[in-house]
Parts: sequence; structure tokens; C-alpha cells
Amino acid sequence: MERPHLDFLLLLLIVAITMPVAASQPRGNITLNSSITAGENLSYWLSPSGDFAFGFVPLPNNSSLFLLAIYYANLPNSSTIIWIPNRNQTLSLNSSVVLTTDGQLSLRDQAGAEVWNPSVQNAAYAAMLDSGNFVLASSSGSYLWESFSSPIDTILPTQSLGPNSELIAKLADDDFNNGRFKIKMQDNGDLVFYFIAVPTGFQYSQYWDTNTNISNSNLFFNSSGRVDLVSPTGQLIDTVTSVKTNSTADFYQRGTIDPDGVFRHYVHPKSSTDGAAAEWTPMDSKPRDICSALTTTSGSGVCGFNSYCGYDHSGMVACQCPEGYSWVNPKRTYKGCKPDFAIPKCIDGFQSVGFKMVTVNNLDFPFGEYEQFYPMNADDCKQLCLDDCFCAASISDGVGDCWKMRFPMSNGEKGSNVQRIAFLKVGNNDTLPSLPLEKKKSWTLPASLGLGGSVLLNLTFLSATLIALGVRRKKQRQRLKGFKLGPNLKSFTYSELEEATKGFGEEVGKGACGTVYKGYLCSEQNGNPDVAVKKLRDFEMEMEKEFSNEVKIIGQTHHKNLVRLLGYCNRGVERLLVYEYMCNGSLASYLFGSVRPPWKQRVEIVLGIAKGLRYLHEECSTPIIHCDIKPQNVLLDGNFIAKIADFGLSKLLGTDQTRTITGMRGTKGYVAPEWFKKLGITAKVDVYSFGVMLLEIVCCRRYVEKELTEEETVLCFWASDCYKAGKIDLLLKGDEEAMKDMGRVARFLTVALRCLREEPSSRPTMGQVLQLLEGTVAIPLLGMPDWFHNNVN
Ligand SMILES: *[C@@H]1O[C@H](CO)[C@@H](O)[C@H](O)[C@H]1NC(C)=O
Ligand SMILES: *[C@@H]1O[C@H](CO)[C@@H](O)[C@H](O)[C@H]1NC(C)=O
Ligand SMILES: *[C@@H]1O[C@H](CO)[C@@H](O)[C@H](O)[C@H]1NC(C)=O
Ligand SMILES: *[C@@H]1O[C@H](CO)[C@@H](O)[C@H](O)[C@H]1NC(C)=O
Ligand SMILES: *[C@@H]1O[C@H](CO)[C@@H](O)[C@H](O)[C@H]1NC(C)=O
Ligand SMILES: *[C@@H]1O[C@H](CO)[C@@H](O)[C@H](O)[C@H]1NC(C)=O
Ligand SMILES: *[C@@H]1O[C@H](CO)[C@@H](O)[C@H](O)[C@H]1NC(C)=O
Ligand SMILES: *[C@@H]1O[C@H](CO)[C@@H](O)[C@H](O)[C@H]1NC(C)=O
Ligand SMILES: *[C@@H]1O[C@H](CO)[C@@H](O)[C@H](O)[C@H]1NC(C)=O
Ligand SMILES: *[C@@H]1O[C@H](CO)[C@@H](O)[C@H](O)[C@H]1NC(C)=O
Ligand SMILES: *[C@@H]1O[C@H](CO)[C@@H](O)[C@H](O)[C@H]1NC(C)=O
Ligand SMILES: *[C@@H]1O[C@H](CO)[C@@H](O)[C@H](O)[C@H]1NC(C)=O
Repeated sequence: MERPHLDFLLLLLIVAITMPVAASQPRGNITLNSSITAGENLSYWLSPSGDFAFGFVPLPNNSSLFLLAIYYANLPNSSTIIWIPNRNQTLSLNSSVVLTTDGQLSLRDQAGAEVWNPSVQNAAYAAMLDSGNFVLASSSGSYLWESFSSPIDTILPTQSLGPNSELIAKLADDDFNNGRFKIKMQDNGDLVFYFIAVPTGFQYSQYWDTNTNISNSNLFFNSSGRVDLVSPTGQLIDTVTSVKTNSTADFYQRGTIDPDGVFRHYVHPKSSTDGAAAEWTPMDSKPRDICSALTTTSGSGVCGFNSYCGYDHSGMVACQCPEGYSWVNPKRTYKGCKPDFAIPKCIDGFQSVGFKMVTVNNLDFPFGEYEQFYPMNADDCKQLCLDDCFCAASISDGVGDCWKMRFPMSNGEKGSNVQRIAFLKVGNNDTLPSLPLEKKKSWTLPASLGLGGSVLLNLTFLSATLIALGVRRKKQRQRLKGFKLGPNLKSFTYSELEEATKGFGEEVGKGACGTVYKGYLCSEQNGNPDVAVKKLRDFEMEMEKEFSNEVKIIGQTHHKNLVRLLGYCNRGVERLLVYEYMCNGSLASYLFGSVRPPWKQRVEIVLGIAKGLRYLHEECSTPIIHCDIKPQNVLLDGNFIAKIADFGLSKLLGTDQTRTITGMRGTKGYVAPEWFKKLGITAKVDVYSFGVMLLEIVCCRRYVEKELTEEETVLCFWASDCYKAGKIDLLLKGDEEAMKDMGRVARFLTVALRCLREEPSSRPTMGQVLQLLEGTVAIPLLGMPDWFHNNVN
């Protein structure tokens, strides 16, 4: 059974109706056992005058989807739909409405299943009346059900809205789902306009009411052209809208709560006299000035967030985006405006670089302020916001009051009556720091070279997983929360870290640049460390500037596959870095332990590392070459997600370490051949190291294993041999899970060998590596690594 679109439907109602009024179609009573079917020529029932029809209306862009509706049958170009049974449902071809032989009205889908029924038994007949009311009547002529009693957003002459009935606006002109405004005829006698939440209908606040109090009053559309509030005894209490000059004899009239929250009383000539295409013209409305009438402490206000309300030449509500902002969706302006710039980040507590203030007179965003000042002149009010990273805009009343506004702004209103000046903080792309287009110039070049076989190499690294755990002190939780949120790093005091690491008592490991300790910032109670604190060794004061630069760059990186830097500490010559704690330790211990990790998990780890490296090379704002990719520098969190550690530490090392390169010549490890030549170092050194590590992960063995037979000792050679001989299964050593996934194994090996090519430029980039690994790009035939023959010991 094929159902029509039942999800969030756009009910497109600007329908060009070209249906000829067929003489054969009944205009009087609809007898039992009658039906109409969507898609057939006569898929509607007309009122006797032919003004109104009850039937199927095709959607303009899909003639195989329909709405069941009551509409003006005579208006040539724009059919105005007055009523539909279900606001969120379209119907497919061959859906039908049947007035059954037992007097029920049944809407059925294509397959004949009932989708709507007004729950009336034993109707004698149905009728589309000239008032626009569709009724089910008993044999005595009394109405058992009428569409007038379940209105959607429109009422018509002779229709009334009883106690506790509502009209709910459409979401947009072409979207019939419940919108953002409603009118309720309350049983206490007050007619109230509410701003409501989508989709729940929660009532934010009222923005207009008649302020009347005679219980059980009705809203009544008098045929003489007025929408009145009438007491239960029929006395006129108040008139909401009226159109005196256009009689209902010559004009169609309707009252509709529009998607902008205004109830408008429209007229449309029944016949066009001078041949000009007639339109619906609003003659009266309530409230008159919705931009001023509606302000709400929750919700966006009339227009969407960051947008502001005003009127166009014809007096219709016009929402606009401020300079520096643009529509989230131009066809759905209630969704508001988004900034065209990155929202300020609170680095160092304030940030005014890259932003400017735009002054707009007669604009206000009432509510939503987080600070208020008095007395303060307009210029200071403007500067204050520019200097404050939390501030989205400031508002001055020009006579001493100043308000700072937060994101998103709401209730925006612009008009000559608004005696306020708004200063909007927008991105100033003249002064924005250049984007990472010129990557090469700004490579962060670390020299923390963990080199195979060297003394430095055998040291283990930190590991960690930051998980918010127990709370030691409320104060500390807040602190931790604070720095987790933003990209800004927390500056710790030495004693805080001394306390957190229990006096640097629990060592996790030692690395090229320092020793790593377990730390308990918030988690002392449950006994699990939550941070890893790295104490840099031999820090030289002249490196101070590099230290803060590096820390800033590392702090700005943010990726699932990178270990996150949380903060740092400077004290004298002490330099400490605080990272999230990775509870499953390093990839090295996981991979080379006694149990072989599952193949699927290894695949995920490979992809994770590749993504992390691609981010470092190609996606973060200051590209970073790691220079020390190896299993010891990949950590695993509680879910075995691989995270790259120790990136970006280049200049934090004293010069001594960088010199150790010279000692590395001839070592077969993770180090790319160009380190030993006088070649420029590029991101391809990481690609090389990744290739080595990829072989290790596939084969679950170290790069060099002396216990093995001579031909197997060095993994690169062995893998290359097996690959060439078409015997890659030898590499897997009975790993059945991997054997079943031979295609992927072969792909991974091919990629690894490409990464190991001697000539850096012939190695793929990390972006390409990832595509090859994931199989989104086919792998070209591989030439064997050329070091294979000429580089044997
Ligand atoms: C339509 O809306 C009604 C009430 O809001 C809801 O009960 C119903 O599930 C919706 N139907 C679809 C198909 O979304
Ligand atoms: C419809 O049926 C009712 C009751 O049978 C009758 O009074 C009325 O005149 C009929 N209307 C038309 C237009 O036939
Ligand atoms: C209903 O109408 C169908 C044809 O449209 C006819 O075959 C059937 O006999 C009718 N049933 C009754 C009870 O009149
Ligand atoms: C529907 O109308 C078209 C054109 O007016 C006509 O060709 C066709 O035969 C009609 N179909 C039915 C079922 O009446
Ligand atoms: C109809 O067109 C509107 C935009 O014109 C589009 O948003 C909607 O998805 C379309 N519906 C279908 C069923 O194609
Ligand atoms: C029209 O709607 C039907 C039913 O949902 C869908 O199968 C079809 O693809 C739509 N056609 C167009 C042109 O959008
Ligand atoms: C109806 O016709 C008028 C005049 O030609 C045109 O401006 C208007 O856009 C049309 N409405 C629709 C919904 O097509
Ligand atoms: C609609 O009904 C006609 C005639 O019964 C049939 O030929 C056609 O396939 C049906 N279309 C759909 C979409 O069910
Ligand atoms: C109703 O309103 C009138 C006039 O505004 C007032 O005098 C009267 O006390 C009100 N009655 C109630 C029950 O609130
Ligand atoms: C409609 O208004 C007129 C006065 O313009 C009044 O005489 C008549 O009673 C009203 N009709 C109803 C049904 O209230
Ligand atoms: C009626 O409404 C039209 C707009 O459709 C307007 O131009 C006209 O002046 C009004 N008054 C009369 C007496 O027609
Ligand atoms: C600022 O950004 C906008 C939008 O991206 C662009 O149109 C404009 O040219 C930029 N201006 C400058 C000075 O770069």
C-alpha cells in the first residue's frame, strides 16, 4: 500500500485551478452512495451557486498528490483553500471520498483504507453550501456535522467561532502545517491572540486581545461585513474587523489569521468587471501594528531569530536580516537569519579582532539583554560590545541607557517609532586572519622526532580519556565545564596540577618532550583519572613565545581523532600541558599485546587515524605536520576510538632533540627517507609513517621483529614480497576475521605500499589515502616501492 507523503509536508496551496465547472456535477444535495476520486475529471462537489467546491485539489508541482479541501471554485488563478481535514496530510491519486450507504463520510487512500472520517452515522445526505460550509445532515435537515465547526485559519461570513475554539495560522503561505500564531475564543469571553511554539503549540505569550469578559461569547462573521464579538444572547460586544463598503453580495470575504500573526479581513470581487485580474485585498486587520504588539521573552518574536520586523510599502509585514546576516531559508523567513561570519570565540576572555560594529538607527531587540548600563553614551555602548566576546549587539536609547544583547537576538523591530540605536557586531572580513589557503607558509613543523631504534623512541606516551565523572568540588566542575565548551584553553596554576596529579605521583609514561602523569581534576572520588598532565622537560625561557603560539594552535584543533588539549600551566621554567585522559592506553600496547584485537576494530582504528591526520594536514586552520606518527602516539579512548597524541609540539623542544636526526641514519622505522637527505620536510613524512603503521595494524606485528625468520624480520620487505607473490594471506597469520575480508586487506596493503614510496611527491596525500582506504576511489596499479631493491642493508 503506497501512502502519500506523511511526514513533514509542504502543502502547496498556490494552486492554479483550471477545472471547468461541469454541468453534470450535482450542485444540490449529495446522496448516499456517492463518491469522488482524486485525479478524475469530476473530483469535487459544488455548492448550488458554484462559488465553493469540496473536493480534491492537486499540488502544483506534483499532479499525483492532492489535498481534500473546501475552496473557491470560481477564482481563476489562485485557489484559496478555506478548509482541509488534516493539515499535515496529502493524498495520492485515486484517493476517494465516499458518502456511504449507511450515511458516513469516509476519506480513503488509494488502497481503500480510511484515513479520515468525521464520525457521523446515518447522515441522510451531505451538501456543499453556498456559505462555504460543508455539512452532513439528518433526514430532518439538521446538521450532524459541519466544516464550520472545525475551522483551520479562516472564518467566512455567517460562520462563528464558539467558546474554546481556535484558528491556527499556517506555517507559511505554502505550508499548511500548524504555524506560529493562534486566535482563541476563550470561554471567559476574551478573544486572545497567542504566539505559540512549533510544533507543540505551547503558548508563549498573548499579543493582542479584545479584553472582554462576557462568558461564552462567540466570534461571529456577520454577513454585513463585520467580524464581531457577540454575547451568548446575541448582543454585539465588540467589532474586531469590518469592511463596510464591499458587500458580501458582490465580494467574497474571509477573515484569516495569516502566517505573520495578523488577522486580516480580505475581500475579493466575485466577478471581474474591467477584466483585470482580481486579487484578495486586506481591508482591515488586527493587531494593526504587530511588530510593536508582539514581544516575547521566549521565542523569536514575529520574525525569526536575528531578524527584525517592519512593513513594506503596502503595509504588509516584512521581515529583514541585518547587515552581515542572511536568511537561514529565504522561503521560510520565520526561520530567521544566520550570521555570515563565525560567532566570536572567547579567546583570552575577549575578542574584537575581525569584528566591526554596524550602526542601525530605529532598530531595537527588546529583551535578551544580559547586561545593562547607565549612564553611558552611545559611542561607549558600541565599543563595550565590540570588546566583549559574549556580545552580539548593543542597544542605546541615546539618553544614557545601554544594553548588551546575546545570541540569538529576538523580537527585532525597526520603525520610525523605535527610539533606539542598535550596534550590531559583524565579521569584518577586511581584517580577518587569512584562511588556511596558503597552507605551506604556516606549517607547524615539529621536531619531536620519535625515531625508530633511538633511545627516545622507547619511551611511552601519555594516555587518557576525559570523561566527566564524580565531582570533587563544585568549583572545579564549573571550571572544567568552562574550558570544555570553548576552544579556549584553561590556564592552570601549578598547585592545582600538583594537587590533581597527587604530587606528580602516578607516571603514565615518558616521551620525547617530557613525562606524563595521571590527573584527577574532577574524578578523585571514583578513582579514575580524567586528565593526563605532561610536564615538558628542559624548557628554555627563550622559547616562551613559541610555547604560547604552539599551545594556541594545538588548542584550536578539534577533531574526534585527536587527543584534546584542555589547558596548560606556566610557572617559572615549568611548562605543563593538560590533555584528556585515554583509558585504553596506546595503540602499541593494544596491537602488540598477547591477544590480537578484532579486525573490525583495527579497520576502524586505521580509518580514525587517517581522518585525524587528514584533519591536521588539510582541515585545521593552521596545518600541522605531526612528524612522529607511530603506534605509541596513537591513544585509544573508552570506546577504542583512535586519537592521535603529541601533535604540534615542534618548538616546545629544546634544540638538542632536533639534532638527534643525524644519529638516525640507516634506521628502519617510521621515519621517511627524506629526513636523511637534504630535502624539505612536508606532510608526506607523516604519510610515510602512516604507511608503516598501517602494515603493523594489518599484520598485528611490530615493524621489526628479530625473532622471526630473516625474510620476515622487516615488515616492509616481507609485506612487499608477499604482495608481489600474491600471497598476502601469509601476512595474516591465521587471522580468520581478516581473511574473510580479503578485499579490504589487499586494499589496505596497496595503500600502505603507496605511502612507503621513496619519492615524497609520489605518495598520496592523507585525503587521498582516506579515499583509497574507504574504497571511494579505485586504486591504480601499484608499482613496488623503489627502495625495495636499492635500499637493502
Ligand atoms: C498530523 O497531525 C496530527 C495532530 O497534530 C497527528 O496526530 C498526526 O499523527 C499527524 N499525522 C501525520 C501523518 O503526520
Ligand atoms: C436537500 O435535502 C433536504 C432534505 O431532504 C431538502 O429539504 C432540501 O431542499 C434539499 N436541497 C436541495 C438543494 O435539493
Ligand atoms: C452504490 O453504487 C454502486 C455503483 O456506483 C452500485 O453498484 C451499488 O449497487 C450502489 N449501492 C447501493 C446500496 O445503492
Ligand atoms: C476528462 O477530461 C478530458 C478533457 O476534458 C477528456 O478527454 C476525458 O475523456 C475526461 N475523462 C473522463 C473520465 O471523463
Ligand atoms: C514542490 O515544490 C516545492 C518547492 O517549489 C518543494 O519544496 C516541494 O518539495 C515539492 N514537492 C514535491 C512533492 O515535489
Ligand atoms: C509525486 O508524488 C509521488 C507520491 O509521493 C512521488 O512518487 C513522485 O515521485 C512525485 N513526483 C514528483 C515529480 O515529485
Ligand atoms: C493571480 O494573478 C495575479 C495577476 O495576474 C498575479 O499577480 C498573481 O501572482 C496570481 N496568483 C497566483 C497565486 O498565481
Ligand atoms: C488509479 O485507478 C485507475 C483506474 O482504476 C488505475 O488504472 C490506476 O493505476 C490507478 N492509479 C494508482 C496510482 O493507483
Ligand atoms: C468585566 O468588564 C467590565 C468592564 O471592563 C468590568 O466592569 C467588570 O467588572 C468585569 N467583570 C468581571 C467579572 O470581570
Ligand atoms: C449583523 O449585523 C446587523 C447590523 O449591521 C444586525 O442587524 C444583524 O442582527 C447582525 N446579524 C447577526 C446574525 O447578528
Ligand atoms: C471593495 O474592495 C476593492 C478591493 O478589492 C476596493 O478597490 C474597492 O474600493 C472597495 N469598495 C467598493 C465600494 O467596491
Ligand atoms: C566579505 O565577505 C562577503 C561575503 O563572503 C564578500 O562578498 C565580500 O566581498 C567580502 N569583503 C571583503 C572585503 O573581503
